Amino acid sequence: MRDATPQTIYLKDYNVPEYLIESVDLNFILDEQCTRVVSRLCLQRNPDSDHSGDALSLMGEELTLVNLSIDGNALDDTHYKQTDEVLTLHSVPQDKPFVVSIENTINPQANTAFEGLYQSSTMLCTQCEAEGFRKITYFLDRPDVMSTFKTTLIGDKDKYPVLLSNGNPVAKGELAHNRHWVTWEDPFAKPCYLFALVAGKLECIEDSFTTQSGRSIALQIFVESHDTDKCEHAMQSLKNAMRWDEEKYGREYDLDQYMIVAVGHFNMGAMENKGLNIFNTKFVLARPDTATDVDYEHIEGVIAHEYFHNWTGNRVTCRDWFQLSLKEGFTVFRDQQFTGDQTSQAVKRIEDVNLLRTRQFAEDAGPLSHPIRPDSYIEINNFYTLTVYEKGAEVVRMLHTLLDADGFRKGSDLYFQRHDGQAVTCDDFVSAMEAANNRDLSQFRHWYSQSGTPRLSISQSYDVENLQLQLTIQQSTPGTDKRKIKNPLLIPVKIGLLGSDGAPLTLNLNGYPQAKEITLTVTEQTQTFTFEQISEQPIVSLLRGYSAPVIIDMPRSEEELAFLLTHDSDPFNRWEAAQLLASKIILDLVHAIQNGHHLEMPPLLISAFTNLLQQQWTDKSYFSLLIKLPDESFLASQMDIVDAESIHQAREFVRQSLAEQLQTHFQSLYAANSADLSGHFDASAIGSRRLKNICLYYLSALENDATYQLAEAQFSHASNMTDQIAALAALVNSRNPAKQTCLENFYQQW
Ligand code: PHE
Ligand code: ZN
Repeated sequence: MRDATPQTIYLKDYNVPEYLIESVDLNFILDEQCTRVVSRLCLQRNPDSDHSGDALSLMGEELTLVNLSIDGNALDDTHYKQTDEVLTLHSVPQDKPFVVSIENTINPQANTAFEGLYQSSTMLCTQCEAEGFRKITYFLDRPDVMSTFKTTLIGDKDKYPVLLSNGNPVAKGELAHNRHWVTWEDPFAKPCYLFALVAGKLECIEDSFTTQSGRSIALQIFVESHDTDKCEHAMQSLKNAMRWDEEKYGREYDLDQYMIVAVGHFNMGAMENKGLNIFNTKFVLARPDTATDVDYEHIEGVIAHEYFHNWTGNRVTCRDWFQLSLKEGFTVFRDQQFTGDQTSQAVKRIEDVNLLRTRQFAEDAGPLSHPIRPDSYIEINNFYTLTVYEKGAEVVRMLHTLLDADGFRKGSDLYFQRHDGQAVTCDDFVSAMEAANNRDLSQFRHWYSQSGTPRLSISQSYDVENLQLQLTIQQSTPGTDKRKIKNPLLIPVKIGLLGSDGAPLTLNLNGYPQAKEITLTVTEQTQTFTFEQISEQPIVSLLRGYSAPVIIDMPRSEEELAFLLTHDSDPFNRWEAAQLLASKIILDLVHAIQNGHHLEMPPLLISAFTNLLQQQWTDKSYFSLLIKLPDESFLASQMDIVDAESIHQAREFVRQSLAEQLQTHFQSLYAANSADLSGHFDASAIGSRRLKNICLYYLSALENDATYQLAEAQFSHASNMTDQIAALAALVNSRNPAKQTCLENFYQQW
């Protein structure tokens, strides 16, 4: 909002930088209110630029300029011009490299935007993505200018005993007036948005990691001294992520040291600065009594995300900010794969799809709708969106589905090989996938330029005479901008067909190898697929694993959904069937409530649940999701006029009916999963807690003394936050007479 006349920046206007900065030498004399920055830039004209003139424009905001020189010759103000955002040097050498030296001051304490250098409690730290470096010193603040950085920090020994920056520490020393200094060198050229410094009174947890090639990496997590007991999980997560990236993508860490700093004041989750990640404390600190299982999982996911950026973002970076999804979409996809491998692929997929369909779809259906690679922006900070991140990850996932795991790995290997050390585009990424797999993905590229959630309308007809199933798929992508005609997309639709006994049928489809499951490549506006030798009317399991970020229009009967819930071998579609079946039933009850009718629980859901409860489940987190009722917000999204009270009443009625009819199942599952697993945060311990707590949720609907006592006992004996908060939730949402006391105790305890 700082600009009086905001300027729109267009992708089509991209030009290569006029100058390049080979190397940067930065010196910081740290002070809360007046930090002095002395910068030495080794520049040269970019041979690829065809600009005319010999001026050099550096970006700089909220800086106080003290000194400026070229090749050692001081410039007076006739040699340069300054505006709020740009420092223009009227004439610089065109035929040889030259050095610009700058001295400026900044006020970290006055920086409440947390962009550039700022103060967080007693420490000083930086945030430079996307355009924060220009608030530290004058620079070519754009991601396609990549430089090697040498950084010296000078500060008071008591206030700033720890002085950190990117790369490896190469020298340090003492100075007069109780000051000291440390010099850091980062040998990898990087854009300035990956620069970081941290200074403060910090303690550090240390460990090490030996890479696949046998190098030993020092791992350090820096926190304030009162938090050192909450870093163990983050450290383990980092080691897991490092190993996983070697195994899954063949990517090894490059520097000798990897540092993470947890900071109380941080706008986002975390930041992937080279060798020196800065994290919101929320995504580092965890202790069993204060953090829930979900917190533990998020920490591992975010630690991994930032680590994975070292290759997808740092070694290979973005040419311009329109390409943000190049690093974010790919890195989110990678962290999703990782978390799936660490926990449960099925559960992770369901959680990610839930986020996408509730939040990203809403974004894409409203006035903020934009393609994953926008065509224009006014303020880049507003483009760190669910679309760029989550839909961006779905687009990468579709490539993974279309090329399969091996083809995708070949593509990513080629991408890293071609572009290591470069600033590139989404198009370069797709090109590497094409070249490595000998495929033409031109039509697929529309996913990068078109906004809106595509809709697939499906119709089927079975021909008994010819034993054929015809499946017709019609695609359309809505646009907020009606004038823009949208191209048909290439959409991977994974599918299976089930016989009446629940077994998968063999699929014979012209152009595809015979299999029990295939991925249809949908390319036309309307396209019909004919499956041959289908001996009975099958049940279609469509868009398995949620193979594309689309909305499906296909009417389903309750019987069909119950059948899929029982038989589908695809865990995502099985869960989807459960949600759709329960939704249909609850929405029917909403109708009944609105019309003053008597409520009756349909036997179909009871029998489907009974069936589920009688089976043995190894993935208890997944099982818990299968028996979880759809959220009220999901139900609301299916009504034209939302009737919040009736939705709540209908859903509670279903919960209570299930609890009454299946009481003994829930009780025995609760008992079987109540072993004390407090100190354990592996997938199996988390799964047991989830299952136990969903049983408690159902049992609490019974409103009787036995279940009141169950919740109370769990509340008072819980030694981890997941169990404590689940018990408290059960208590406060019931008529349990102890709820006031328990709430009071919880308040006192925390
Ligand atoms: N690049 C960070 C991430 O995705 C997010 C971020 C953006 C953090 C901008 C701070 C500022 O991990
Ligand atoms: Zn990221």
